[in-house]
Amino acid sequence: MSSLTRSEYLNPVHTQNWVNGRHLVRCCKLIRETHDVLTFCFSMQEPVLFFFKPGQFVTLELEIDGEPQMRSYTLSSAPSIPYSFSITVKRVPSGVVSNWLHDNLVEGMLLAIHGPAGQFNCIDHPARKVLLLSGGVGITPLMSMARWFFNTNAEVDMAFVHSARTPADIIYRAELDYMSTRIDNFHLHLICEHTPVGQAWSGYRGYLGKDMLALIAPDFMERAVFCCGPAPYMRAVRQLLQQAGFDMANYHEESFGATPEADASLASAQAASAQTDSAADTATHCISFKDSGKSVQVSAEITLHAAAASAGIKLPKACGMGICGTCRVKVLSGETDMQHNGGITDEEIEEGYVLSCCTRPRSNVQLDY
Ligand SMILES: Cc1cc2nc3c(=O)[nH]c(=O)nc-3n(C[C@H](O)[C@H](O)[C@H](O)COP(=O)(O)OP(=O)(O)OC[C@H]3O[C@@H](n4cnc5c(N)ncnc54)[C@H](O)[C@@H]3O)c2cc1C
Ligand code: FES
Repeated sequence: MSSLTRSEYLNPVHTQNWVNGRHLVRCCKLIRETHDVLTFCFSMQEPVLFFFKPGQFVTLELEIDGEPQMRSYTLSSAPSIPYSFSITVKRVPSGVVSNWLHDNLVEGMLLAIHGPAGQFNCIDHPARKVLLLSGGVGITPLMSMARWFFNTNAEVDMAFVHSARTPADIIYRAELDYMSTRIDNFHLHLICEHTPVGQAWSGYRGYLGKDMLALIAPDFMERAVFCCGPAPYMRAVRQLLQQAGFDMANYHEESFGATPEADASLASAQAASAQTDSAADTATHCISFKDSGKSVQVSAEITLHAAAASAGIKLPKACGMGICGTCRVKVLSGETDMQHNGGITDEEIEEGYVLSCCTRPRSNVQLDY
């Protein structure tokens, strides 16, 4: 933006639209949300309108201590304010990327990102009445949706139910309060697990359960549900809805992923056991890599990504769940079984690509890598 005046930069006529791909973006603002959550705002060198579907994410491409690292983060802003976008990141104890972002990313720094992408969004699943359920930092995609509905004066009735550990952990609290005072189709309900001495709280306490939900949103059976939070939280929500006879076709969820497996050691152990198994005639397959000429014998249960790690080959990876598409690789020969979660298109599958984090071999396989 340095060579452009502010009004030139914001000139809508010269502004490009954002499309899925790799982009260099500049961090332009940091906002402290809570003691362990920061929002990072970004814009591009050239003026770009950041259009995306509220709920979608980007994948950051970083190098930390000489190691490439990729992680996905939800776009927490809304495309209704499109001149910049933001991500909101919670520090994860011992987490490589979240702590690096908190400790190192400052205004003015350039970052490579991939996206936007993701099927968990409120554009592909339109509804007149929604129930937005979030736990902890899982609030980010729901906040993007709420901001979008709010800014566009959408005729959508929103019940926003957010669970946090303590009152001090509530992300976006002031903005949520603001939205709930401005429009009558935004019904805000905050739940805190507990209240430490020194923090005032007059809202709901404990965990979201059937009775609490019936009190908060008596018409929840008529709503489309969007849910994001820790795995146990989402499991409890799914169970609660299923038991109530909710039509799960109207239930949409996003997971931020499980603890990453220690790929190389796990796969090495499995590769070693595959060697032993092969003596006993158990199914093992040879995974070979065209560029390096390397190959490894693995059991049919291990992913192509883990097989590559055991051969000393680092395929990129971010979500580890078939959502983000980072680990895409082309299969040159052989049969595979892919269980993805939307991170690959039908066209890519037709062309022979798979997501290595969620694909297992069904025969000997050669990869274009
Ligand atoms: C679609 C999507 C959207 C997301 N959106 C957000 C968002 O909006 N905000 C947000 O904060 N996060 C979001 N995430 C999560 C984010 O991508 C990261 O997973 C998160 O920030 C943790 O990354 P990290 O590098 O800090 O932790 P990692 O280094 O990946 O570690 C995560 C945890 O695993 C443990 N661990 C690491 N390596 C090992 C090992 N070898 N063995 C055992 N344990 C290990 C660590 O101690 C830590 O507790 C999203 C994820 C996805 C898939
Ligand atoms: S790492 Fe995200 S799809 Fe495989």
